[in-house]
Amino acid sequence: MDVDSRRLILGIPKEEAAGERRVALVPELIARLKDANLEILLQADAGTAAGFPDSSYTDKGARIEPDVLARADIVLKVQPPAIDEIRRLKEGATLIGFLQPYANIAGITALAAKNVTAFSMELMPRISRAQTMDALSAMSTVSGYKAVLIAAVHLRKFFPLLMTAAGTMIPARVFVIGAGVAGLQAIGTARRLGAVVEAYDTRPAVKEQVESLGAKFADLGLETRDAEDKSGYARVQSEEFYLRQREMMSKCISAADVVVTTAAVPGQRAPILVTEEMVRAMRPGSVIVDLAAEQGGNCALTEAGREIVRHQVLIVGATNLPGTVPFHASQMYARTVTNFLLHLLRNGKIHLDLDDELTRGPLVTHRGEILHEAVKMSLAPGTRDA
Ligand code: NAI
Repeated sequence: MDVDSRRLILGIPKEEAAGERRVALVPELIARLKDANLEILLQADAGTAAGFPDSSYTDKGARIEPDVLARADIVLKVQPPAIDEIRRLKEGATLIGFLQPYANIAGITALAAKNVTAFSMELMPRISRAQTMDALSAMSTVSGYKAVLIAAVHLRKFFPLLMTAAGTMIPARVFVIGAGVAGLQAIGTARRLGAVVEAYDTRPAVKEQVESLGAKFADLGLETRDAEDKSGYARVQSEEFYLRQREMMSKCISAADVVVTTAAVPGQRAPILVTEEMVRAMRPGSVIVDLAAEQGGNCALTEAGREIVRHQVLIVGATNLPGTVPFHASQMYARTVTNFLLHLLRNGKIHLDLDDELTRGPLVTHRGEILHEAVKMSLAPGTRDA
């Protein structure tokens, strides 16, 4: 058969990373991909942990295949593939997923060596054209929601004001640091549970959004210069600023029953905004959920992936919260990767327009090379911390 006339095979492997329950494609999207002239192969049980049994895919026209990595021309994944998975990929295949490009030297190098055209969803430019492909925002929404539920489960108090025959219970106070995508979702969720919510962000532009969700924007009296870059991300502030921010926030933190921290600056370690002193000043039984745990944590005591008690305060170093809401997280993630894949396809083939920032932005490796400049720089010897 003429290689160019055969349909490309899209492969959906089962995620192998420990604890990962998401899947990169959900059945509702199969029809769109078939219309784009792709054949869909699924590894058995790829979606089971997320709540999508094999039959829900085969009913829509996917086929089950034991080793999709070896057969697929295009692979959709959630987590970065392990080296063994990269070895099994077809030479020259296309891969789309979260690749953690700045922390994954071995993986990126192996993808280049295998001539894989690899796209990292973390690197999607934040432009309006790419909004339906913004996997990071989609997953931050899940994290912000789940962070508040975790806090509510652990807190020894109710969230809402309750007026009962046994008396009135006052509502919990929640303080959210960082009102980006995750923070705003945390605010909305805490408000829906009836808590009194306050929030702070270095970007003054979010004040209105915080207030529109029924929360109070903490006015710390700080002046933030150049608070955000042109994509709407926070810029790093001076050490003096962070010192002052901690001072001004300590009252909000000691008054809170729950603190949810989401403050991040792209490409940097997360700023430490809650010191041990501040934890000590919190009421016993209070809860901190640190969504920046994987970027080093906003709380000085956070341990990524662990729940610890320090000074009678529970500190949750939350990691991979989207993986704990796998049905909806998979649905959201799958829509973003599918939208991106459909953007890349022309007449059933991958069409790489390297002048298109939407294609070029997330492209990490192609034809044996690491094409993404910032990733290449971060992988060069001597540019990384040992
Ligand atoms: P993120 O995860 O990098 O940061 C979370 C939040 O922490 C941000 O709101 C940031 O301002 C805040 N922060 C950083 N340092 C802080 C500090 N010292 N104290 C308090 N807060 C601090 O960012 P995220 O949530 O992914 O996106 C942030 C913003 O980017 C969005 O709110 C939006 O304005 C913009 N955006 C634009 C998109 C688009 O145009 N397609 C898509 C997604 C986001």
